[in-house]
Amino acid sequence: MTPMIRKPFSRPSSRIQAVAPSATKVMADRAAGIHNCVSLGQGVPGFAPPPHVMEAVQQMLVDNPTISRYTLQTGMPQLRERLSEYLLAEKGVKADPVHEICVTVGGMEALLASILAVVDPGDEVLLPSPTYASYTEQVLLAGGVPVFVPLTKQWGLDPAGLRAAVTQKTKAILLCNPGNPTGNVYSADEIRALCELAVANNIVLIIDEAYDYIVYDDTTILNPLSVDAYRDHVIAIGSLSKKYCLTGWRVGWVAAARQWMEHITKVHDAATICAPTISQCAALAALNGDQQWVATCCRELAKKKEVCCSRLDRLAPHFSYVAPKGAFYIMGKYHFTTDNSQQTAHRLLDETGVITVPGGSFGQGGEGHLRLSFGGETAEINESFDRIERWLGA
Ligand SMILES: Cc1ncc(COP(=O)(O)O)c(C=O)c1O
Repeated sequence: MTPMIRKPFSRPSSRIQAVAPSATKVMADRAAGIHNCVSLGQGVPGFAPPPHVMEAVQQMLVDNPTISRYTLQTGMPQLRERLSEYLLAEKGVKADPVHEICVTVGGMEALLASILAVVDPGDEVLLPSPTYASYTEQVLLAGGVPVFVPLTKQWGLDPAGLRAAVTQKTKAILLCNPGNPTGNVYSADEIRALCELAVANNIVLIIDEAYDYIVYDDTTILNPLSVDAYRDHVIAIGSLSKKYCLTGWRVGWVAAARQWMEHITKVHDAATICAPTISQCAALAALNGDQQWVATCCRELAKKKEVCCSRLDRLAPHFSYVAPKGAFYIMGKYHFTTDNSQQTAHRLLDETGVITVPGGSFGQGGEGHLRLSFGGETAEINESFDRIERWLGA
């Protein structure tokens, strides 16, 4: 018999070699080997989804014979119509449900489809940083060049820094409002200034409002797609994951002028055909259902934020932070070691079982911090801080 000759593996694409596994995944893998972990790391709200969504889906499983089939690529017409009404009512955004809205596999797919539709290899993408880590990975997947533009000390946008970062190659800016990981909420003036920069330099602003429903003060979020003068330069993204605690259902949306949407939907079709039909049914039920449910969750999150901030206050001078205005994250700046954030997060996990996310994984400006999420159970937040207090001897 001829001996089998093992051939070496083919080389993975250079595109994928440029992408590192996400820090959240690395932390989760590390935590899997440690007994009795508690988490300040998870980016998920700890509530059960609205019961009316689950009931509606159960009913649809019985009543709707097409639930096991694909929907139209851009999503169920009723859902796109509902999203169009929602965008107008909540954000003043006029989006034609047929040509300007696409239902996606979470906000994540909406982001990737938009980036692939906009960014050519070698194009630069400005990332006000610290930024949501997946933006960096997605820009790299598109062959783009992430350009980190540090936020201010209070996590605001730095107009001069952004202007200085623009070059002939700048193609897009990616921003989430409210921000992950900072918890900052950008004002309407900041968003307008960013859009002026985008329009003047023919840059596309991809704005991600995955946390638009959780703002702790009276700041109104301006969705720039609502402003006619900016429309052609804006792609807006949203998600039902956090608002309705449907992270596992994988449903989100993207809205943009038709010229952009034609290209975004080509990526979406090639990658997924459509978002899962059953998840689209859940999304429709969530949007049609009682929104008091969301208001109640936000009140609970506001209480958790207070718990997290007061526990951090007790840890001063080991930690300092900028109080979040939205979302459910705090960047805790640590002063008890000069180790980098990855070493610190790993040591904290190994020695106390508390999961956090290294701030450095969110790009420039995040180093020296740990991202702490207060989306989980209050008891777990308190247990995490009890362990950190003991660990620091505080
Ligand atoms: C800023 C931001 N955008 C998008 C997403 C992705 O959300 P989805 O579950 O809708 O894909 C997340 C998830 O954590 C996020 O934090």
